[in-house]
Amino acid sequence: MNKLKRAGIIGLGSYVPEKVLTNFDLEKMVDTSDEWIVTRTGIKARRIADKNTSTSDIATISAQKAIKSAGINPEEIDLIIVATVTPDMAFPSTACIVQKNIGAVNAAAFDLEAGCSGFVYAMSIGKNFIETGMYKKVLIIGAETLSKIIDWEDRNTCVLFGDGAGAAVLGEVEENEGILSTTLGADGAGGECLNMPAGGSRMPASADTVKDRLHYIRMAGSDVFKFAVRVMPKASKEALELAGLGLEDIDYLVPHQANIRIIDAAAKRLKVDMDKVYVNLHEYGNMSAASIPVALDEAYRKGKIKKGDNVVLVGFGAGLTWGSAVIKWSI
Ligand code: ACO
Repeated sequence: MNKLKRAGIIGLGSYVPEKVLTNFDLEKMVDTSDEWIVTRTGIKARRIADKNTSTSDIATISAQKAIKSAGINPEEIDLIIVATVTPDMAFPSTACIVQKNIGAVNAAAFDLEAGCSGFVYAMSIGKNFIETGMYKKVLIIGAETLSKIIDWEDRNTCVLFGDGAGAAVLGEVEENEGILSTTLGADGAGGECLNMPAGGSRMPASADTVKDRLHYIRMAGSDVFKFAVRVMPKASKEALELAGLGLEDIDYLVPHQANIRIIDAAAKRLKVDMDKVYVNLHEYGNMSAASIPVALDEAYRKGKIKKGDNVVLVGFGAGLTWGSAVIKWSI
């Protein structure tokens, strides 16, 4: 009989565009203030991709870093999943564009759309492909250029988001390490809280949709806020339970980076001190599917996460969706 396979992270990488847009810059663009943005969200700045840079461009850079950190060749990758709500175009998938860019000639490739939960969704899929024995190496990427779908005249949304990309290579690890559990969920009934109405088959792009500003993010902020505060602790507890662990076993929490008040509330409910929670939203804002992998890469590189730690990832986002993963850190 084959020995049980366990999937884990064997390499990580991330990238954010160089251009910084501060709250003070935004004060000149819409009726807002640094004070309002900081007190309501914790965000001070965000990164913005230039006109010629697309999601696949920054996804490629993060993927190349993750592959290097895993010490593998691109030809060894069996599958590429790109989680994004800002693909380069409807098709081909951004994952196929990345596949070409990095020379992963043996990989299957597809995009996954689960809003800010996308990276945890991708991790869950990658874990299962590896543990069933179908694939040995899966490259998962969360990448967004949200600046391209932000209404820069809408102060309710334009202050919240930024661009970035993070990637992980999943591979086989020791049986008692790696991704111990994942849990995913969705509530399509809440879909209207957070969407981009036009450009799909429901409302194809037309002069009217452009005139009516329907190709931008629309959000009912306080509904999403309440949803997030409810599902973040619930999903984390569920994933811990599946891993046979309790709240007291959390060594480090890497939550989705949407709003410091949401993170504070989740940490309180999970009884985790804020010094065990990674926060970088003040620098980058909400990068949707890229937030968790960028935070995870930074936390690892800064030595916040050590081999043997129980690390909890938890995200929520458009769909509405949520997801959590528990990882026994193995690198
Ligand atoms: N500057 C100044 N005033 C503002 C701004 C701004 N940038 N934005 C909104 N306001 C005003 C509104 O017009 C409103 O004014 P009114 O009461 O006169 O109408 C008021 O501030 C809104 O205040 P609150 O409702 O108290 O704001 P709240 O505390 O709910 O914060 C926020 C709003 C930051 C959007 C919050 O609700 C939030 O973070 N929600 C969750 C967002 C989120 O996590 N989204 C994830 C999506 S990710 C994805 O999947 C793509």
